[in-house]
Amino acid sequence: MANLSPPPTPAAAPPPTASATKPRGAPGAAPASAVSLARVQLTAAQAVLAVLAGTNADNAIARQDTSGFDGAARGALTDLVLGTLRHLGELRVIVRAFVRAKPDALIEAVLWIAIYELLYSRTASHVVVSQAVEAAERVNRGAKGFVNAVLRNVLRNPDEARAKGAASEEGHWNHPQWWIDRVRADHPEWWEAILRGGNGHGPLTLRVNTLRCSREKLIDAFAAKKIEVETLGETMIVVKRPRPVHRMPGFAEGWFSVQDGGAQLAAPLLGAKAEHRVLDACAAPGGKTAHILELAPCNLVALDVDAERLLRVAENLSRLGLTARTQVANAADVSTWWDGAPFDRILLDAPCTGSGVVRRHPDGKWLKRESDIAQLAALQTQLIDGLWTTLAVGGRLLYCTCSVFRDENAAQIDAALVRHSNMRRVRISLPGDPASAGGQLLPGGNKKTHNHDGFFYALLEKTAS
Ligand SMILES: C[S@@+](CC[C@H](N)C(=O)[O-])C[C@H]1O[C@@H](n2cnc3c(N)ncnc32)[C@H](O)[C@@H]1O
Repeated sequence: MANLSPPPTPAAAPPPTASATKPRGAPGAAPASAVSLARVQLTAAQAVLAVLAGTNADNAIARQDTSGFDGAARGALTDLVLGTLRHLGELRVIVRAFVRAKPDALIEAVLWIAIYELLYSRTASHVVVSQAVEAAERVNRGAKGFVNAVLRNVLRNPDEARAKGAASEEGHWNHPQWWIDRVRADHPEWWEAILRGGNGHGPLTLRVNTLRCSREKLIDAFAAKKIEVETLGETMIVVKRPRPVHRMPGFAEGWFSVQDGGAQLAAPLLGAKAEHRVLDACAAPGGKTAHILELAPCNLVALDVDAERLLRVAENLSRLGLTARTQVANAADVSTWWDGAPFDRILLDAPCTGSGVVRRHPDGKWLKRESDIAQLAALQTQLIDGLWTTLAVGGRLLYCTCSVFRDENAAQIDAALVRHSNMRRVRISLPGDPASAGGQLLPGGNKKTHNHDGFFYALLEKTAS
């Protein structure tokens, strides 16, 4: 393979490498890498284009040629891809404002990456520019001067670049225009908070598995490794400086799981008891399945239509010392999997647009199409109607999504209540933010509550008629 490192400079400074890409405000010094920043920028640009062509960010990154990348270069690549996707609305507007003719797609993506770094990372600007020029040269020698000129223009006046970027709604909110319009129409009071929350960063929130470990024991084990946490409840803690969980004490022993604070509400709301027959209808990867079992050792069936994802449920349960029957099935097609014995509790954590979790998955903002909402809402309706037949009279179904779109949430439940005369919505109390009265948790929460993802919850009870 060609040597892709930048040419040696006469100065004593080390050659620019991927380690320079640490985002502004990120804790600690970035580890050094042997891979050039130019190569990481170019790889990131290719991955961002793959996302725009319909591949999720994890797969888009995994499919790039990262031979020779060390841990620091991989970390930098992920930071650049996710950071650029987080700010893509604005970056696209800035590039359009600073060029006369639209460049080739890959050159344009290199510009997005570099401008993201110039505006939002701690990387020295001359390094960003020189490496981006080199990245562009690898694509097309003729693009070198063009990229250099655009980036130097941005650098000369970053405030003007920001102002230009914020001039359109898509640039200002960093969400597609249709998404902004939908959220504004669905939540006239909260739309700005929702979009702002979607652009934030999700904390690393853990759930203590009290069957294996007390909260205090876990906090002590973390303290011994200088891992600071904030305690938010009996089983909920937030790690102040996020790090790979596999390397944290107690992970392999099943002392804790990673689970957002909003998601941690599901199992308590479901209220399963040890004597209950429980169905987790869309279970993979099993975060909520495990929580239900941690609260009550019930007879639980975990379904998922995706066989590969369902394996993750088994893995997670085994790490945590829990058991459930897992089955690959389309939950809506009841005749293919149900044995006729009614369930006392059903969790329907429905497939959805994920519009409430884009702060963790910024690729979602650019992958989803407006038409996906109606398609997913139709599937959610089928799931509700199919599963309703498997619920015992007096039993409860907890419907939840990690979406903020009304058609997947309040409108879905209003329509279900009309279709099923034996369905009653049970009043639930959700912590904190004022929007939650109707079951909607806003992404980011508010300062008085913990910082959670955007979720929707509706608890439905089956009456005799
Ligand atoms: C939001 S995720 C569930 C997350 C999971 N409850 C947790 O807490 O870890 C939705 C899941 O629904 C599954 N799914 C989609 N359509 C389904 C169907 N028709 N029947 C069963 N599972 C389905 C997807 O494979 C996906 O794993």
